[in-house]
Amino acid sequence: MTRTLTTTAGAPIADNQNSLSAGRNGPLLLQDWQLIEKLAHQNRERIPERVVHAKGSAAYGTLTITNDITAYSKAKLFDALGKKTEVLLRFSTVAGERGAADAERDVRGFALKLYTEEGNWDLVGNNTPVFFIRDPLKFPDFIRTQKRHPSTNLRSPTAMWDFWSLSPESLHQVTILMSDRGLPQGYRFMNGYGSHTYSFINAGGERFWVKFHFKSLQGIKTWTNREGEAVVAKDRESAQRDLYEAIEAGDFPRWRMCVQIMPEADAEKTAYNPFDLTKVWPHADYPLIEVGILELNRNPRHYFAEVEQASFSPSNIVPGIGFSPDKMLQGRIFAYADAHRYRVGTHYEALPVNRPRCPVAHYHADGSMLHDIPERGDAYYEPNSMGGPAEDRRFAEPPLKISGDADRWNHRDGNDDYSQAGALFRLMSPDQRERLMDNIAEAMQGVPEEIVRRQVVHFHRADPAYGLGVALRMKLDAMNIDPQPLSTAAE
Ligand code: NDP
Ligand code: HEM
Repeated sequence: MTRTLTTTAGAPIADNQNSLSAGRNGPLLLQDWQLIEKLAHQNRERIPERVVHAKGSAAYGTLTITNDITAYSKAKLFDALGKKTEVLLRFSTVAGERGAADAERDVRGFALKLYTEEGNWDLVGNNTPVFFIRDPLKFPDFIRTQKRHPSTNLRSPTAMWDFWSLSPESLHQVTILMSDRGLPQGYRFMNGYGSHTYSFINAGGERFWVKFHFKSLQGIKTWTNREGEAVVAKDRESAQRDLYEAIEAGDFPRWRMCVQIMPEADAEKTAYNPFDLTKVWPHADYPLIEVGILELNRNPRHYFAEVEQASFSPSNIVPGIGFSPDKMLQGRIFAYADAHRYRVGTHYEALPVNRPRCPVAHYHADGSMLHDIPERGDAYYEPNSMGGPAEDRRFAEPPLKISGDADRWNHRDGNDDYSQAGALFRLMSPDQRERLMDNIAEAMQGVPEEIVRRQVVHFHRADPAYGLGVALRMKLDAMNIDPQPLSTAAE
């Protein structure tokens, strides 16, 4: 039997086809609260889109532990071989709006929520191991260059290359973005990286620095610019469709989760700052250690409820996993929960998609949209003598030694922005290098020559063949590409 349609207050509705009018052809009556409810709800059907990473797709799945890493972390999700933890993984592009096409050259988000028995662990990463900047103070400016120009409302290659050329720490990430991997065939065919350095803490209270890697078991598959354009012409939702349909067909995508581990004391010894988000840790020094297999096997039922409202934050960590001095990570620890309170609402963590799968016990009761009635009676403040939830020192992290003068330290001092970008260029095959430099030249069309020249100096410093290849494509006189006299903001 068909269920009876009701108002949101549960009252049955007799007619959902005809408004209440004064006479057959007459005006409508204000007392038609069913009509008013429908129109008023429609006006509230959208929430602000994410300020970045607005276009995305997500799926549920499991992380299954295949290797014992309890020597490094006491996090409960790692404590037994074969242990499974439910996850939500949201993929995204960065710069486009919610309706942007999927097959565009851009970094991809790789945001994991692991519903562990000791709370949600959110690992909010990308498909790249590094990032464009290393100080969060620059993030709003960087994102401005990726979004639309305030007057033309168009994307601005001039703004992008102006910022990048004045911020040479971006070179490593720009090289990845412009390489084959900057345009994946779909979310299944790319790696994920936690990118930042985080910390692991073991049962003995020892700290290790850690980086997270997720290697696609579908393999890396990418489009060229021309292939991407052909895809977009026919299907703006190519990545959403590919992910959704694969999971519906039972072809569950999988990634091999690995970590790189650095003993706490090594951070003083590496030639590079291991907390610098523009750098990787060479595999030869810190090899990948397998942790488990991540599998996506269930599509969300309701996109708005489960994907649009999904709220990931690097501040969500669990015992055994911690932060590091990475300045970008420090900035992100603030930014995400703040964004969620604005974008989704005060009690966003209590929504079904965000809700931890373990008991929660806190005192943040009041505020809009309180979903559950707290069961604490008189214990509505802390400390109290009423048996309310209280802290437990067993979960304290070991202290982290920090020293130095408080100052706005120049993040460029003594920093090498070129070696790792150059190493990446040199590990590419000749074909890959050609496509990289073609993609760069294509993306630089229309950019003032002064900016192009400044950027070419950076490519040249990474590898002379890189600089000369782009210079030739941009029809610059290669003889005039002298890296020394040209100044940048780095100097
Ligand atoms: P390795 O030779 O051990 O590793 C090279 C890495 O580069 C592999 O992880 C490979 O990924 C990845 N790679 C290949 N092509 C691209 C591309 N176009 N964009 C991004 N990544 C790519 O070298 P090292 O560890 O010594 O690092 C050398 C350079 O490799 C670094 O400067 C960095 O640019 C890049 N890289 C290093 C990573 C690391 O964590 N050490 C991670 C990713 C990149 P895959 O195995 O999936 O093919
Ligand atoms: C989304 C801020 C750097 C990955 C967001 C959002 C904000 C933000 C405000 C929107 C959150 C929301 O509304 O739900 C910042 C700031 C950064 C920074 C201030 C630097 C200081 C990074 C880096 C990475 C990253 C370095 C990857 C390593 C993501 C991802 C999302 C996102 C994947 C989408 C999450 C989702 O799927 O909901 N960022 N970000 N961001 N960011 Fe960042």
